[in-house]
Parts: sequence; structure tokens; C-alpha cells
Amino acid sequence: MISNPRVCIIGAGLAGLTSAKHLQDEGIHFVVFEATRYVGGTWRYDPRVGTDENGLPLHTSMYKNLRTNLPKPTMELKGFPVPDDMISFPTWKAYYSYIQDYAKHFDLEKHIKFLHQVISVSREKNSWKVKYQNVLTKEEFEDVFDFVLIGTGHFSKPKIPNVSGEEKFLGSIVHSHDYREPNRYKNRRVLIVGAGPSGMDIAIDVAYVCKTLVHSHHSKVAFRTVFPKHYIKKPDIKEFNETGVTFVDGSYENIDDVIYCTGYEYYYPFLDQSCGLNITPRSITPLYKYMVNINEPTMMMMGLVVRACLVVAIDAQSRYATALIKGNFTLPSKEQMLEEWESRASIIRSKGRPLSDIHFLAEKEDDYYADLTKESGIERVPPVMFKIRNEDTDMKLENLYTYRDYVYTVIDNENFIKTKYNKTNNFSLNNS
Ligand SMILES: Cc1cc2nc3c(=O)[nH]c(=O)nc-3n(C[C@H](O)[C@H](O)[C@H](O)COP(=O)(O)OP(=O)(O)OC[C@H]3O[C@@H](n4cnc5c(N)ncnc54)[C@H](O)[C@@H]3O)c2cc1C
Ligand SMILES: *[C@@H]1O[C@H](CO)[C@@H](O)[C@H](O)[C@H]1NC(C)=O
Ligand SMILES: *[C@@H]1O[C@H](CO)[C@@H](O)[C@H](O)[C@H]1NC(C)=O
Ligand SMILES: *[C@@H]1O[C@H](CO)[C@@H](O)[C@H](O)[C@H]1NC(C)=O
Ligand SMILES: *[C@@H]1O[C@H](CO)[C@@H](O)[C@H](O)[C@H]1NC(C)=O
Ligand SMILES: *[C@@H]1O[C@H](CO)[C@@H](O)[C@H](O)[C@H]1NC(C)=O
Repeated sequence: MISNPRVCIIGAGLAGLTSAKHLQDEGIHFVVFEATRYVGGTWRYDPRVGTDENGLPLHTSMYKNLRTNLPKPTMELKGFPVPDDMISFPTWKAYYSYIQDYAKHFDLEKHIKFLHQVISVSREKNSWKVKYQNVLTKEEFEDVFDFVLIGTGHFSKPKIPNVSGEEKFLGSIVHSHDYREPNRYKNRRVLIVGAGPSGMDIAIDVAYVCKTLVHSHHSKVAFRTVFPKHYIKKPDIKEFNETGVTFVDGSYENIDDVIYCTGYEYYYPFLDQSCGLNITPRSITPLYKYMVNINEPTMMMMGLVVRACLVVAIDAQSRYATALIKGNFTLPSKEQMLEEWESRASIIRSKGRPLSDIHFLAEKEDDYYADLTKESGIERVPPVMFKIRNEDTDMKLENLYTYRDYVYTVIDNENFIKTKYNKTNNFSLNNS
């Protein structure tokens, strides 16, 4: 345990804000660096794409008609109830204002150095050297810390597929990171690539207005949604020509516009070799409990999990990190931490799965919360969260058009009730 530790938090999205809140509760000194002038990270919609007024790449991947894909109890931050009048699956706007209220309520902004981008983190003489830049004046600074919590998000750097003939294609191509609103696709023939959460959600958003919606994907997930007649399912793309796309089954479609919903890459350009992490676009290793940098365990990667109630997971990780910094518990030895990581990695290898699965919580989510509590003494995330996520996942498989018509009410740590929302849901069409 380090007395009076100096803590650096990078990013003022949910990971940074929850870390700030819990560290503040424990009276631990810290500073938050945030590259933009805003809290809330990806939840702050920005109609622009490309770069912002300061020349930085726009971080947000939010689109105008987005509503959360998890119901409100699983979007709640500890110690700050979601408002009663918030709808069951809030719009980005309602959720973003909840985040802003959280920052105000706990008076977190005073700890945040806005418009300061971290440009390098390196390990020197048993501490962390953090270099950061004022994005307006370009002036550079350097400070030394004992702990670094990294909360820069991982849905910002597009993963772009390499499809032959793409350069010939005369229509428009964007990645979902730059998808903002459906109107420009009105009466167009649109190709959506990918069937992850963004692919399914954007397909539905665009299908309301476009002429044909061609959806290319190889997902084995058994979606049972009945799509409108102008929705055409296709396998993977073989190649582009000037006017359209040939698929691997040999079929061809004329296409005006393409939206790649092909996911994101892990991207931490500011982390130096000396940090001891192996960073690829698909995985960050080795991490203990999905977050602690095993080679330099005073560095933690916040929110680096997928297939989870991410907000709840981030909040729990922030409390775990705070308990560690506070000295409430100590980590196991490096060998033991490597063993935990290796046992997860070997299961993935034995199934012939890619190492990117190392960040999947999925069916392990509730056990993860139990583990975090057992080790650190933090209050446990109740099992009902995982249960709600499972039910919501089933409802999505059943019908992507109606799964948001349900209200989930938590009864106790284990139980919830689900009721149908009476009003017709037309938020996805007009919520600006
Ligand atoms: C389109 C979309 C929909 C989503 N829907 C849901 C949902 O319904 N439910 C759910 O639970 N989750 C959802 N998520 C996941 C979402 O990412 C999490 O809810 C959460 O917001 C992640 O917070 P974060 O703090 O990790 O990252 P972010 O919100 O991405 O914040 C990172 C912050 O770090 C800053 N930053 C980056 N680099 C630097 C640097 N070098 N120096 C200083 N600052 C830096 C950025 O400016 C940003 O403010 C969604 C994500 C996306 C993209
Ligand atoms: C894309 O694919 C082509 C061949 O299909 C290959 O020559 C090229 O190197 C690939 N580019 C990238 C960035 O992978
Ligand atoms: C693109 O390929 C399709 C299918 O082979 C063909 O019908 C179409 O004419 C081609 N477009 C151009 C501009 O060559
Ligand atoms: C650390 O332990 C103290 C004493 O048990 C407790 O009050 C506090 O909430 C703990 N902090 C965290 C972040 O778990
Ligand atoms: C929803 O409808 C049911 C049955 O028609 C009714 O009993 C209930 O009060 C309604 N709930 C709301 C919130 O309107
Ligand atoms: C849905 O749209 C109809 C017609 O535009 C409107 O009357 C109704 O109030 C809307 N319902 C909701 C829940 O917004």
C-alpha cells in the first residue's frame, strides 16, 4: 500500500467519472485528464464526423435516434438512482443528461482537466510518467503518478474490413462510428455490413426510410425478428464494382450507400512499451480480473469487457480499483495473477477461439461480480443485473422492434418483474 497515492485517471466518460466519484469518497487525491471540454464520453452525441474544433478525431459513436439496448436498472450508477421519469430504454439524450447530473451532484468537474489530452504514459523509476497536452495551446506538461486508471473507451477506432474492389465503388461508404442519422438514406439502396449490436440497431433505424436494406453478415445468432419486405439478408461480401456488391454466394445487388458495422479496435496510442502490456487491435494482455495490468499492477484498464451490463461492470471495477488504491486489499503475486489469466486464455485456445474472447464476460458476468467482491470487499453487484441482461437478450432475439417496449423493475437482489409498456414506441423515429 502506498500512502497518499497520486492517481491519474485518463478520460471523463463513465469509467473516469465513476472512478473519480469513488476515489473522492475515500479522500484519495487524483486528477482526471479529458481531451474534450465535456464529460460523458461516447454518450454525448455530436452531429459532426471527422475531427472536432480542436483538430482531434471525434470520439463519440452516438447516433441521433439511439436508445440504450439495456433497460434502465442496468444503466444505473451506484449511489445515484436513475430518475423515475426516465423511460425504460432511455434515449442517448436522457442518459447523457443523467451522466451530466452525476458529475454535478458529486462535484466531479473540479478534478477534471478538460481539453488536456494524454499523449504518453511510461513507467519510470517505479512510478508513472504521464505526458499531456493542452489541445488549444499545444503546450505539453508532464506529471508523475503512483496509479494510472485508463478510461478512454474502446468504441471509437473503427475496424474497417478490406474488401476487394472497394476503390471502384461510386457510392458512399461510412463506418458506424460516423453514422449519425437516417435521413440521408431516404429512398436509397443501403448495404449494412455486420450483425453486432450496432449492425442490428442501425439496420432498423435505416430500414424506416430507405428503399432497400441489404444486410450482409455471417452471424449465427438466431434472430427471429420479422423484417419488412425491403430487408434482404445476404452472406459476406465477395467484391465491389462501381454500382454494387457481389456476395460470396454469387448474388449481386445494386447499392447506393454502405455502412460498415464491423466493430472497433482497441487503440491506446499513448501507452508506451514500458507499460508492459501487449496491445493488438483485438486484445490487450495480460490482465488480471479483466482489468489489472499484470506486469505493472498499478495500472488498470477500466471498462475493457464486452457482453456485459457495461455501466454496472465499469462502476464495480471503479470500486475495486478504489479499494485497491485505498489499501483495503492487496493483489495476489504476479505468478498467481498470471495463472488466473492463463487459465482463462487456455480455455479460449482449447475451444479454438481467438484471443479477443479474453474480454468477453457473457455467461461469466455474474461470477465476475462475485469474484470482485470476494477479493476486494466491495459491495456486490446483485445477480438480478445479469438476470435482466439475459432476459433482455432473449427479447432482442425474439423481436428487435419490440424489445424496448418492456419495463424491468428490480424487486430484490435476485428478482425483477417485466411488464409491457402501454404506449406505442416511436422514439426511434423522432427523438431529436
Ligand atoms: C453507439 C453505442 C451505444 C452504446 N449503448 C450502450 C448501452 O445501451 N448500454 C450500455 O451499458 N453501454 C452502451 N455502450 C457502451 C458504452 O461505451 C459504455 O456505456 C460507456 O459509456 C463506456 O464509458 P468509458 O468511460 O469506458 O468510455 P467513453 O465513453 O468512450 O469515454 C472515454 C473518454 O476518454 C476521453 N479520451 C480518450 N482518449 C483520451 C486521451 N488520450 N486523453 C484524454 N482523454 C481521452 C474521450 O474524450 C472520452 O471522453 C454503447 C456504446 C456505443 C458506442
Ligand atoms: C487488402 O487485401 C488485398 C488483397 O485482397 C491485399 O493486397 C492488401 O494488402 C490488403 N490490405 C490490407 C490493409 O490488409
Ligand atoms: C457490376 O456487376 C454486376 C454483376 O456482375 C453487373 O450486372 C453490373 O453491370 C456491374 N456494374 C458495372 C458498372 O460494371
Ligand atoms: C474500504 O474499507 C473501508 C473499511 O471497511 C470501507 O468503509 C470502505 O467502503 C472500503 N472502500 C472501498 C472502495 O471498498
Ligand atoms: C397498462 O395497461 C394495463 C392494462 O390495460 C393497465 O392496467 C395499466 O394501468 C397500464 N399502465 C400504464 C402505466 O398505463
Ligand atoms: C407516437 O406517434 C403518434 C403519432 O405521431 C403520437 O400521437 C404518439 O403520441 C406517439 N407516442 C409516443 C409514445 O411518443
